[in-house]
Amino acid sequence: MPQPSSHAEQPVLSIEDLEVVFDTIDGPVTAITGVNLELPRGKTVAVVGESGSGKSVTAYAILRIIQKPGRISRGQILFRPRNGEPCDIATLSEKDDRLYQLRGGKIGMIFQEPMTALSPVHSIGNQIVEAIRLHRPVTKQEAEKEAAAMLGRVGIKQPEERLKQYPHEFSGGMRQRVVIAMALVCRPEILIADEPTTALDVTIQAQILDLINELKNELGASVLFITHDLGVVAQMADEVVVMNRSRVMERAPVLELFDQPFHPYTRGLLASMPRLDQHQSRLARVEVSNVNIAGLPAGYTLRREDALPGAEPRLLPLEGRRQILAWPTQN
Ligand SMILES: Nc1ncnc2c1ncn2[C@@H]1O[C@H](COP(=O)(O)OP(=O)(O)OP(=O)(O)O)[C@@H](O)[C@H]1O
Ligand SMILES: [Mg+2]
Repeated sequence: MPQPSSHAEQPVLSIEDLEVVFDTIDGPVTAITGVNLELPRGKTVAVVGESGSGKSVTAYAILRIIQKPGRISRGQILFRPRNGEPCDIATLSEKDDRLYQLRGGKIGMIFQEPMTALSPVHSIGNQIVEAIRLHRPVTKQEAEKEAAAMLGRVGIKQPEERLKQYPHEFSGGMRQRVVIAMALVCRPEILIADEPTTALDVTIQAQILDLINELKNELGASVLFITHDLGVVAQMADEVVVMNRSRVMERAPVLELFDQPFHPYTRGLLASMPRLDQHQSRLARVEVSNVNIAGLPAGYTLRREDALPGAEPRLLPLEGRRQILAWPTQN
C-alpha cells in the first residue's frame, strides 16, 4: 500500500500562485504573478531568466524583504522547517518573531553584490558575530570562535586576524566568501543565492560555486540558485525553473531541460548560449515536435496568439516533475 509522504519528504519550501505588485504612482505594476516553485529538501533549484523576469523579487518575497511600495498581493510561501510547524511566510505579520528567525537564521541569502550584505563601517568579525548572536544564545567569545572557524572554512587564511579587518580590506572574491560565511554561519536549511558570482572573474567564480556545493552538502541545506548563466545551472542544479516576464514558463529536472526544452522561450534561451552548441541538433529536433508535448492536456496551447481572448495562462503539470505554462484555447 502506498505510504503517505512524511514531512521529511515534502519540499522544504513550496511557493504557490505567488504575486507581487508594486503600487507606483502610475498604478500597480505586477512584478511576478502565478509563480509556483518547489524546493525539495537537500536539492538545488536554479531559477533562470532574463533581466526583469522576476527572479530577485521571488527571492525577496521568500525573506519578506521586498522594498516598498512592493507587496505580496496573492499566494502562499510554505516553509517546512526540519523541526517545528510549517508556516506560510507570505502571511506572517511584519512583527512576527518567526520572520526574524527566518532571515539569516533558517534561511540565508547571498546577494549578487557583497556590499549589499556588508556594512562598510563595522569589522567583518563584528558582523559575523552579530549574525550568530542574533539567532543563537552563545557568548561573544563562543561566537568569535565560530566566526573564525567559518571564515577558515570558506578559505580565508589567518581568520582570527582577518576578523578584525573591514570589508574594504578584502578583494571582491574574498568579500563574497565573507558573505557566504555570514549566510551559512547559522546553518540555514535554505540558502538563497542571487547571482552570487556575476561580479567575479571566472576562476574565482568556479571556486565559489564549489564552495557553495561543498557547504550545502555539509549542512544538508537546500539551495535556491538564481543565475543568468546556463553553464552554472548545469554545474549546480538538480532542477530548473525558467522565468520570463513575471511568470514561470517551465520547470524540469536539469538534464531533461537541456535535452528537451519544451517551451519556445526556453529553447530560445538555450539556443542563445554558446556553451550549448552540442545541443543544437537536439534543439532542432524538439522544434519539430513542438506541437505534440507529451501530457499537455487538450484545450491548451503554448502559443499565446492561439489562446482564448482574455484567458490567463496556467502552469500545467506534465510527466515526471515537469511543468509548462500554457494558454487555454477553449472554455
Ligand atoms: N522598486 C520597484 N518598483 C517598481 N517595480 C519594480 C521594482 N523592483 C522590481 N520591480 C518590477 O519587478 C520586475 C522583476 O524584477 P527583478 O528584480 O525580480 O528581476 P530579475 O529577474 O531579478 O532581473 P535581473 O536579472 O536584472 O536581476 C521588474 O521588471 C519590475 O517590473
Ligand atoms: Mg535580480
